[in-house]
Amino acid sequence: MKPLLFAMPGNEDFTGRLIAALGAEPGSLEMRRFPDGETYVRLASDVDGRSTAFVCTLDRPNDKTLPLLFTAHAARDLGASRVGLVAPYLGYMRQDKRFRPGEAITSSAFGSLLSSSFDWIVTVDPHLHRRTSMSEIYAIPVAVCHAAPKLSAWIREHAPNALVIGPDVESEQWVSTVAADAGVPCVTLEKTRRGDRDVEIKLPDLEAWRSRTPVLVDDIISSGRTMEVAIRHLSELGFSPPICLGIHGLFADDAFERLEAAGASSIVCTNTVSHKATALDVSDIVAKAMSSLVQ
Ligand code: R5P
Repeated sequence: MKPLLFAMPGNEDFTGRLIAALGAEPGSLEMRRFPDGETYVRLASDVDGRSTAFVCTLDRPNDKTLPLLFTAHAARDLGASRVGLVAPYLGYMRQDKRFRPGEAITSSAFGSLLSSSFDWIVTVDPHLHRRTSMSEIYAIPVAVCHAAPKLSAWIREHAPNALVIGPDVESEQWVSTVAADAGVPCVTLEKTRRGDRDVEIKLPDLEAWRSRTPVLVDDIISSGRTMEVAIRHLSELGFSPPICLGIHGLFADDAFERLEAAGASSIVCTNTVSHKATALDVSDIVAKAMSSLVQ
C-alpha cells in the first residue's frame, strides 16, 4: 500500500512535490475553526493500517502546533501503522539553554511534545547550536537534510564572482563548505547579539575582496537584523549591493522590506518556508530522506 501524505494548511505545494517524488497518495484533511477558536479536524482518507505522514513547516509554530498534534492523534487513533512528521523548518530550536534563571528551555519542551505524537521526523538544517545532535532533544528518529549543496549550486550559477560571508563563528564550518563547493572565497563576521533585534557586527579586513560580489549566507533570516547590519557595513566600505542567501526565510514583520531598503540586490531562500524571496526547491532532498521512513 502506498504511504499517505497529508498537507497541513499552507503546505500544499511542498506536499505535492513530495507526493510526486515518492509516488505517495495524497491524504484528504478537513480542518476548520469553531466560532470559539477551537479546531475541528477530520481525516477524510482512511488511514487504518497505513503509513501516514503530515507535512507541516513549523515557522510561526504556536498556531500550527495544536492542530498538528490533534491530527497526529486522530491518525494514530484511527489505526495508522506509522505517523511521521515532515517539518521542512523546525521551530523552537534556538532557546536550547537557560540564559537567565527561570527561563523555559523551549527546544526541549517542544521536542518532548512532538516526540510523544510522532514516530519519526524529517527536517532541513535544524538550528543545532549548543547541542550536537537531534537525539539530545528528540526521543524519536529525526532525519536531517542539508540544503548547503543547493546554496552552493545557486552561487555557482548566479554569482560565480562571490565572496561568501558567514554571519558568526558558529556558522563558519558549514558556510565555508558552501563557499568551497561553489569555488569561491569565504570570510566570517563577528556577531554580538544584544537583543532580539539588536545585533552588532564586526567585519574582518575585506580589502582583498573588493571586486567580488558579497553573498551573505545564513541558516535563518528572522528579524533580518543580522543581514541588514552587515549590508550597511558592506555598503559603507564601497562593496557592490550584497545578495542575501538563507536556508529558512522566516522574515518576521517587515524584515524582507528592510533588507531591500538596506540595499540587498536579491534575497534568496529555500522553500522550507513560504515567503516573498526567490525560492530554491529542497523537496527532492526531503523526499530522499523520507523514503525509508514512510514505507
Ligand atoms: C543565529 O544563530 C542564526 O544563525 C541567525 O544568524 C539568526 O537567527 C538570524 O536572525 P535575525 O535575522 O533575527 O538577525
